[in-house]
Amino acid sequence: GARLLYSLPNFQNPTGRTLPLERRFALVEACARLGLPLIEDDPYGALSYRNDPLPKMLNMNPAGVIYMGSFSKVLTPGIRLGYVVAPTPLILKMEQAKQAADLHTAQLTQMVVYEAIKDGFLQTHIPTIRKLYADQCQAMLDALQTYFPAGTSWTRPEGGMFIWVTLPAHIDSGALLKEAVEQHVAFVPGAPFYANEPQQNTLRLSFVTVPPEKIRAGIERLGKLIAAKL
Ligand SMILES: Cc1ncc(COP(=O)(O)O)c(C=O)c1O
Repeated sequence: GARLLYSLPNFQNPTGRTLPLERRFALVEACARLGLPLIEDDPYGALSYRNDPLPKMLNMNPAGVIYMGSFSKVLTPGIRLGYVVAPTPLILKMEQAKQAADLHTAQLTQMVVYEAIKDGFLQTHIPTIRKLYADQCQAMLDALQTYFPAGTSWTRPEGGMFIWVTLPAHIDSGALLKEAVEQHVAFVPGAPFYANEPQQNTLRLSFVTVPPEKIRAGIERLGKLIAAKL
């Protein structure tokens, strides 16, 4: 009875995982066969740390994919402006629905983004933040390896903003957060990301706004708090 399929193929929020090439083809093929519109939500796609990012599903079947992009992750988060690539009849319907929902996205915001990017700013800015985030991601992965105790595991993202951590089963990351904040370290507990039964021993780390020295210090403190619970 499903009416559409939502997917987040690149450096997923919250896990940082990427949908492999063969599964992209399989998803596009299955949706086309079932007549199911496929939403490709891709706000993190430009933040790839590989030189050969995987192809968009949009390019595999432009008639069957509704592609969504955002300026939030490449320009400035507060701007909350995005865009859709989809067949024209669908865009016209979405425009009607959006006008009914919020009248329109503010024109001033759209004009600000247009002025900021029209002369090619993103072509130089995106490589800069890719390198910055890639280095910070590596600093966090190295720190996790050094300071997190045995029994913990984490994802190794190829882009984006997040690392997903799994703690030993008896540790509740919500309770851990309270102790961590007292030591000026914050993360997002994993439970709210689950649609069904949550795994309380999971958490999301972000490495994008903090320089490597602070990442190392924060992961060291967090590692000690976790080790004390083993
Ligand atoms: C998967 C995903 N889609 C969309 C968004 C929102 O993008 P925007 O800031 O354009 O609303 C986010 C995060 O902010 C996200 O993680």
